Amino acid sequence: MKPPGPPNRLGLGNFRGMMRDPLGFMTAAAEYGPIVDIQLLFEPYCLAVDPALIQQALTQGNSVMHKDRFTHQLSRVMGQGLITSEGELWRKQRKLVSHAFTPRRIRSYGDSMVAATHRSLDRWSDGDELDIHASMAELTLDVIGRTLFDADVRGDAREVGEALQVFSDFYGDVLESPFAPPNWWPTPRMARFRRGIRNVDRILGDIIQERRQSGEDRGDLLSALLQAQDDGGAGMSDRQLRDECITLFLAGHETTSLALANTFYLLSQHPEIERRVHTEVVEVLGDRAGTSDDVERLAYAERAIKESMRLYPPVYATGRLLLEDYELGGYTIKKGTNLLFVQWVTHRHPDYFPNPLEYDPDRWRPERAQTVHKYAYFPFGGGPRICIGNHFAMMEAVLLLATIIREYRLELIPGQTLELKPSVTLRPAQGLRMKLVARHSSKSLQKSRAAAGSS
Ligand code: HEM
Repeated sequence: MKPPGPPNRLGLGNFRGMMRDPLGFMTAAAEYGPIVDIQLLFEPYCLAVDPALIQQALTQGNSVMHKDRFTHQLSRVMGQGLITSEGELWRKQRKLVSHAFTPRRIRSYGDSMVAATHRSLDRWSDGDELDIHASMAELTLDVIGRTLFDADVRGDAREVGEALQVFSDFYGDVLESPFAPPNWWPTPRMARFRRGIRNVDRILGDIIQERRQSGEDRGDLLSALLQAQDDGGAGMSDRQLRDECITLFLAGHETTSLALANTFYLLSQHPEIERRVHTEVVEVLGDRAGTSDDVERLAYAERAIKESMRLYPPVYATGRLLLEDYELGGYTIKKGTNLLFVQWVTHRHPDYFPNPLEYDPDRWRPERAQTVHKYAYFPFGGGPRICIGNHFAMMEAVLLLATIIREYRLELIPGQTLELKPSVTLRPAQGLRMKLVARHSSKSLQKSRAAAGSS
């Protein structure tokens, strides 16, 4: 017997609903129960809504699941990096790449993160209007460039930025259509896609080559990847390094920029919460720049970000393809089914979060957080394939938020709402314009920054 699910006349109804409004469609589908059968044209899908089922599948089901068809599309850009690889290759690479994400290494990236934020702040002034998503994307690109390669990626910004935009448009369209054109497809868009890959390959190739030749440990992620060796003493090939670098580069910047931009949006709509974040930041940092040691004490700022990722999870859905029949929630789910775990749906489900649409960072106070099922909230996925950058991302988000909010309050320019476009990530459909309002203390902070030479 199949799990219940929305009726699907001629195989078209669900497909149309999913194409038109995937978030709305999946939210409505979740009303059929903790586990829902969804037929999309000729492809069987199964949505696991209940946290216990999500936990079971993500933590125990790895040997009978692969990433879904859509994730595998990413290998056109990411090759066989951590996100797209499977089986033995993934296991070996996960071990090697984790050398770059030890707690000590992650802490050492804190100063680069704050310095990048100061470079952005140096270009901002009171009263400026900016697109918060574009600004955060630029900032997190700077951070990942410095932490990954100790390099100013903004130097290559035009080409890298162009390539990222092309990839992102392509994957947005792939999601909206049952047909994904092959790379060689003779259209201007696919020509841009190929050019994007060539540019990224060239830029990364140069960086990797130069570093191999110098043999220098620059303390960045790339140095850690170059030093990592498996039990037999073998390191990564140039091709594997390229794939892991582009994976970390892409996975590591847009997600965090969305988390930050959405947090600024929510704070602008909840001034009392914004004030609490600011007060905490002033108490913890005073006049000095933040460091990774401060993150622990910026607990309310962290809760504000966590709660923003509950309402607006940057990765809003995670998919797996079943390689064998699989028992889940009392049903036998057939081999070939795409299992879906949709953060957007479970994070906003009233069974798991009271007043689910309310932005309430205090949900994450320890005494309340312990009543939430571990897999009711899974912005970073779970099980062995949990996001390898989750601690990096949380530290980055807290440090960037604290550094910015100490100097500016961000006001939403009236007349806008946060419209979302589900692509690989949950992105804003249009930009979101915000106005910078300098704090009284901003001038003295700028002076202390200049004196510290951080810019
Ligand atoms: C707020 C920021 C981020 C969010 C919401 C996020 C979310 C996720 C999620 C949901 C997954 C699991 C996907 C799945 O199971 O199919 C994942 C995997 C991954 N993420 Fe992140 N991520 C973030 C930041 C980062 C950063 C900063 C990096 C690296 C610098 C990174 C690198 C990766 C990699 C390499 C994987 C694949 C891990 C594996 O399969 O072994 N992510 N991320």
